[in-house]
Amino acid sequence: MMTTVLENKTMVEAGSPGLAGIIAGDTSICCVDQGKLLYRGYPIEELSEKCVFGEVAYLLLWGALPNKTQLEEFRTMIDGFHGLRPEVIDTLRKIPNDVPMMSVLRTGISMASHFDAVGGQSVEDLRKRGVWLLAVAADIVAARYRLMNGKEPVEPKRGLSHAAQILYGCHGVDPDETAVRILDLTLTLYAEHDFNASTFTNRVICSTLSDMTSSVVGAIGSLKGPLHGGANEEALALIMRFKDASEAATWVQGALARKEKVMGFGHRVYKNGDHRARILEKEMRDLAAKKGREDLVAIYDAIKDPIVNKEKPIYPNVDYPCGLTYYLMDLPPDLYTPLFACSRISGWAAHYIEQNQDNRIYRPLSRYVGEGLRSVPGISDR
Ligand SMILES: CC(C)(COP(=O)(O)OP(=O)(O)OC[C@H]1O[C@@H](n2cnc3c(N)ncnc32)[C@H](O)[C@@H]1OP(=O)(O)O)[C@@H](O)C(=O)NCCC(=O)NCCS
Repeated sequence: MMTTVLENKTMVEAGSPGLAGIIAGDTSICCVDQGKLLYRGYPIEELSEKCVFGEVAYLLLWGALPNKTQLEEFRTMIDGFHGLRPEVIDTLRKIPNDVPMMSVLRTGISMASHFDAVGGQSVEDLRKRGVWLLAVAADIVAARYRLMNGKEPVEPKRGLSHAAQILYGCHGVDPDETAVRILDLTLTLYAEHDFNASTFTNRVICSTLSDMTSSVVGAIGSLKGPLHGGANEEALALIMRFKDASEAATWVQGALARKEKVMGFGHRVYKNGDHRARILEKEMRDLAAKKGREDLVAIYDAIKDPIVNKEKPIYPNVDYPCGLTYYLMDLPPDLYTPLFACSRISGWAAHYIEQNQDNRIYRPLSRYVGEGLRSVPGISDR
């Protein structure tokens, strides 16, 4: 222990920048480990193979996989929440075109919440609010996308999966099966990841007994950053910088020598690779082959190979294959992080409920490294 310059204030000397290695709370929602990634105990490999995103969202929010009736009820509930109020669409129209979609999503959800019919703080109310947030986020992203392209938002279509609804909302036509399947897979992979920066932001806001919408809006701000969710857009931008694999290979050697961070690589927890990246990379390679875009995969590999083969390897995280996957699905980069949010809301809402059930306000200490005690000089002496 040490005494700081402020009398009577003591603190533990050892800190942890970025809270690395600190256990900030208990959770039964998700286990992120070198060897496994589990949502409520189920491995991500099986969930991504056997379930659609709706089942995964239900699992996160209700704590158990839905049976057919429960899944149907979930779909009816989310259908009932789809459709933006005119006030929200008007707000979207008024936001300048160059504002990033993540900022629009943040504002849109905030605005929509003022008309939100879901009240109450019971666990069931909070689950409903989570489902409402999933619906409204998808509608905002789709409506803004259409407005940006000079088109009017379309009415949501009842009975679609979350992935199909997003694609239908953007394009206004029934989406093709492959696009729905791949987007659905990415939504499952993005749904939850324990105490990452945005989820932690969400839990900190919840811990003050603030409302779920405020927690989710805060989490969106956190997810937007390129070190977190924004990395999928940045990873694609990196791949697109190069005309071919050899140009990419030359650049990456230089970047490693300069100790530059390569977007879409590295992870605070995973040191032997990200389970989600492995699942999605396979899908991305198949899609690229179908689309005849092996040239882009060659650039992808030219960046990746030297980084994973260096003496201290760094592995791609889910955002590296995701950027290229979305590009191959003809989705514009400005949508990539918002799509991540359209999924992660399920995890944020589950964490909000968990935090709310067993709450203690987050209030860490800081190590004061500023000036010692001094008195305030009069304004003419400064
Ligand atoms: C995710 C991330 C923020 C984790 O940060 P962190 O846990 O604080 O890890 P550090 O920055 O301490 O990195 C540890 C070591 O790996 C290196 N490293 C980490 N990520 C790297 C990357 N993307 N490219 C190159 N080197 C990287 C660091 O330079 C450092 O090397 P050193 O020990 O020789 O100094 C970081 O890996 C990163 O910035 N990645 C790029 C952004 C990204 O893809 N984010 C999405 C995460 S899912």
